[in-house]
Amino acid sequence: MTHEIAVIPGDGIGQEVTPAAVEVLEAIETVDFEFTEADAGDAVKAETGEALPQETRDLAADADATLFGAAGETAADVILPLRQVVGSFANIRPAVAYPGLDALQPDTDLVFIRENTEGVYKGIESEITDGVTTCTRVITEEASEKIAEFGFDYAKQNGYDVTIAHKANVMRTTDGLFLDTAEAVGQDRGAEYDTALMDALAMHLVQRPEEYGVVICPNLAGDMLSDLAAGIVGGLGLLPSANVGEENALFEPVHGSAPDIAGEGVANPSAMILSAAMMLDHFGYDEEGDRVRAAVESVLESGPRTPDLGGDASTDAVTAAVVDEL
Ligand code: NAI
Ligand code: MG
Repeated sequence: MTHEIAVIPGDGIGQEVTPAAVEVLEAIETVDFEFTEADAGDAVKAETGEALPQETRDLAADADATLFGAAGETAADVILPLRQVVGSFANIRPAVAYPGLDALQPDTDLVFIRENTEGVYKGIESEITDGVTTCTRVITEEASEKIAEFGFDYAKQNGYDVTIAHKANVMRTTDGLFLDTAEAVGQDRGAEYDTALMDALAMHLVQRPEEYGVVICPNLAGDMLSDLAAGIVGGLGLLPSANVGEENALFEPVHGSAPDIAGEGVANPSAMILSAAMMLDHFGYDEEGDRVRAAVESVLESGPRTPDLGGDASTDAVTAAVVDEL
């Protein structure tokens, strides 16, 4: 069966790591993907006035899944609508410390299950008057229930404990609803879980991440806590993610366009390649997904490594090593 994949490299290192992931997927003989590339981001905006051209939107909507690299300044105009286009309600962000890397916390094995449609990222902001601005935080029972169900299922399938992150002591109404709804889902399933105030959780994740597994979070908390987790496992070049909907999905690294290293050919392709592995899982190619993760893990351990991990190898050299390992 051929799967139609929309490929949107975007800006900066997105242009460098996205072809690396495609190269790895093409090296797997047991899967058949048809890749179609489209533009999004700062560069296409400068050219056409639009960061997310209709044609790119349509391609992602019609594809079986999308691989997205990164956008620059226009990120919010690209990735937020793209997540909507694929109907994604859940953002899965694993943060794993790989053997052989100099991780701050080598026993880290976390998966953030981030609500992907609302919270403060709903984009409802206004300037009431000069010098006074507001942002409306939207939390609904429906979206909270959906993300909690997804998180509890994911934890059960993959053998993780569950923590529900919230700040219901301050945001009593919005996070009160999020917390109550997520707890009810856990109780309905007879599942064990913990709850944690998200600020204290940030500290605990740094000090003793091994005590946590799946962390179910509201949107902004999931964005921030997963970047924090990137820091304790060795950097943003390592964190993949999946934006999952009922029928469609988009896979992207957690990192952005990294303008400080863009164009140098030294971006770490691991996050993007691991995102492609999540796409393999999504289509039910679990064995192939595991093979790609094992290949990345092996290259991370024995090298070559890109400069963010202390090496001096290029993106291409690391990608070639992963393909060899496969
Ligand atoms: P960033 O993730 O692009 O970079 C943060 C730091 O991590 C930089 O020092 C960068 O060199 C390093 N880094 C990130 N990915 C790396 C990789 N694969 N290999 C080696 N080093 C890597 O985040 P930053 O600097 O906050 O944002 C830069 C631009 O990216 C901004 O314009 C922002 O809007 C955009 N952005 C886009 C996102 C998206 O498209 N989903 C997500 C986050 C930021
Ligand atoms: Mg982010």
